[in-house]
Amino acid sequence: MRRPIIAGNWKMYKGPAETAAFVAELWPQVRENKEVEIVVCPPFVSLEAAVRAGRDTAIAVGAQDVYWEKQGAFTGEVSAGMLAEVGCRYGLVGHSERRQLFGETDAGVNRKARALLEVNITPIICVGETLEQREQGATARVCQGQLEAALQGLSPEQVGGLVVAYEPVWAIGTGRNATSADAQAVIGDLRRLVVSLCGPEAGKNTRFQYGGSVKPGNIADFMAQPDIDGVLVGGASLVVADFAAIINYRVAAG
Ligand code: PGA
Repeated sequence: MRRPIIAGNWKMYKGPAETAAFVAELWPQVRENKEVEIVVCPPFVSLEAAVRAGRDTAIAVGAQDVYWEKQGAFTGEVSAGMLAEVGCRYGLVGHSERRQLFGETDAGVNRKARALLEVNITPIICVGETLEQREQGATARVCQGQLEAALQGLSPEQVGGLVVAYEPVWAIGTGRNATSADAQAVIGDLRRLVVSLCGPEAGKNTRFQYGGSVKPGNIADFMAQPDIDGVLVGGASLVVADFAAIINYRVAAG
């Protein structure tokens, strides 16, 4: 069975003090929920505060990006080993904002995922099409191409341990989510791609998330889909009550 995984991508919000307060406030609201794996991804400077605040909780911490080299003259960058040292267990790679605003390439996404795996951090690999690509009917080709490139050189065991987030670019921060049926269709295809590239075991184990305007009111629909194992949440993960309601979607749905 794939354990549901719900992650908050805080983007460039929340410094260390706000991060620590958020984790401390969130935990009592989600501690009874043993089913869902919970991850928060604050900015680099707040990672340590999140780890410290989450020490006696089941809230795991993820980074939003990483650089693939171990160390060196790479001004402004942070290595996977450094993330492991502060206690990160997850790392986003290939978020569409990184791809669109910061020139992230498919090859870079692959190198970053490999660097994380080397230090036992689980990559959350993000893929997704733009509105233009969707309107051209290129959704499957774009998403599958991004995923195949990201998986280059990974063993089937490594792929089975990954999290892959399908995030249509047009649904991010727009309030316009994909329908759960559309998300299931794309993710079902992505899972079949993993099976064909890495075998049935990897295909069965890889966890897929949907991301893009997930809210307390639409989470249950996504989670009801057979191939959707979790969600990656931006805006709604910044508000404790909303993120807690998303994590506790089963309770809320009765
Ligand atoms: P959103 O962002 O939930 O605000 O749409 C999702 C994401 O960028 O991961």
